[in-house]
Amino acid sequence: MRTLIRNIGRLYLVPPGPVRAPQLGDVPILRDAAVCIDDERIAWFGRDSNRPPDPVDAELDANGQAVVPGFVDCHTHLLFAGTREGEFVDRIRGKTYVQILEAGGGIHVSVDAVRRASETELVGLGRDRLRRMLAAGTTTAEVKSGYGLSPEDELKMLRAIRRLSGEQPVELVATYLAAHTVPRAYADRAEAYLAAVTADDVLERIYRDDLAEFADVFCERGAFTPAQAERFLRECERHGLRPKLHAEQITHSGATRLGVALNAVSVDHLEELDDEDIAALRGSATIPVLLPGCNFFLNARPAPARRMIDAGLPVALATDCNPGSSMIESMPLILSIACTLLRMTPVEALVAATANAAAAINRADRIGAIATGHQADLLLLDVPNVERLAYDVGRNAVRTVLKRGRVVHQA
Ligand code: NIG
Ligand code: FE
Repeated sequence: MRTLIRNIGRLYLVPPGPVRAPQLGDVPILRDAAVCIDDERIAWFGRDSNRPPDPVDAELDANGQAVVPGFVDCHTHLLFAGTREGEFVDRIRGKTYVQILEAGGGIHVSVDAVRRASETELVGLGRDRLRRMLAAGTTTAEVKSGYGLSPEDELKMLRAIRRLSGEQPVELVATYLAAHTVPRAYADRAEAYLAAVTADDVLERIYRDDLAEFADVFCERGAFTPAQAERFLRECERHGLRPKLHAEQITHSGATRLGVALNAVSVDHLEELDDEDIAALRGSATIPVLLPGCNFFLNARPAPARRMIDAGLPVALATDCNPGSSMIESMPLILSIACTLLRMTPVEALVAATANAAAAINRADRIGAIATGHQADLLLLDVPNVERLAYDVGRNAVRTVLKRGRVVHQA
């Protein structure tokens, strides 16, 4: 199957990640362009007037507007049951995220709801959310467990993610986040809890059934210490799960440097990152993932994105879609927030949300870029440039979504 996209006003030639400054803010833009797709892959791109004469099976008209890679939402908790608008209001009245968590609310409320839900109910909830995310341009999403907090409920979540990945167009990457917080039944017995969720039979089952690719831990007050995080991640890695960490979100714990020492694929959040952490990240292959939806949603101080970019770090962006700290599904909205709160330019935000986000889930060689041989995950926008995309806050300017070379959504 050969597909041609023609009449592209601006084709953003995002290179494969990881992309650092100065390329991060300065990707080549091809005017009056066309893209040829052979089955799942980008076979050719260039000036529309130079396109190969070969016959094609399908032709798409970009209407002179912009074309960009599909968004890679590299950090989500999109599989959850129930909602938590009560604590949203409690925070407006002055309570903090950690106070709510330490009082037994927050994540625990979502755990109760997920434990009550069947695997099939979870699949239904995830399906609805993924349909909306696809319409906003997300073509790949990482999805974490972490609301089961028992071996069987965590496995239920991972199985639901696997079912979802086979039945709808968004490519899913699963992460085992059993170390999200200490469940109530194990209060003050974090070590015993970690032993239960890293038992050999549990991790072997995940490995054997290919239920997850990464392991993740929430290193924070009210959750796990760096020593506990290290133990959890090392056990998981023995069973083939590469480390990721929720690091320096609310308090500075040293989780970033732990992540670098463990050669984590990414460290995420980083609001409280310091200069030593930035230096450690500079000498590493670990991708720093910024989640500015949380800063908007919790009205919390944002990560030092400019200092990180200036230090040459290949920052990535994601929604962190979850019911507690970022009830946000839309990557275009995250681009807008990255521009206003993190002071990133729209082009930097685009690259962070595509090529660098792909690097944060170890897929930069196949997705997130516009390069020949790369998977044809592409968005036809109904705006002429990415500045307009980020500036037009809250409007969905994604017109057509291609996943693996096929049109999977049309506005
Ligand atoms: O990334 N910080 C920890 N985990 C999520 C929030 C989860 C929740 O509140 O349900 C986050 O912010
Ligand atoms: Fe998160």
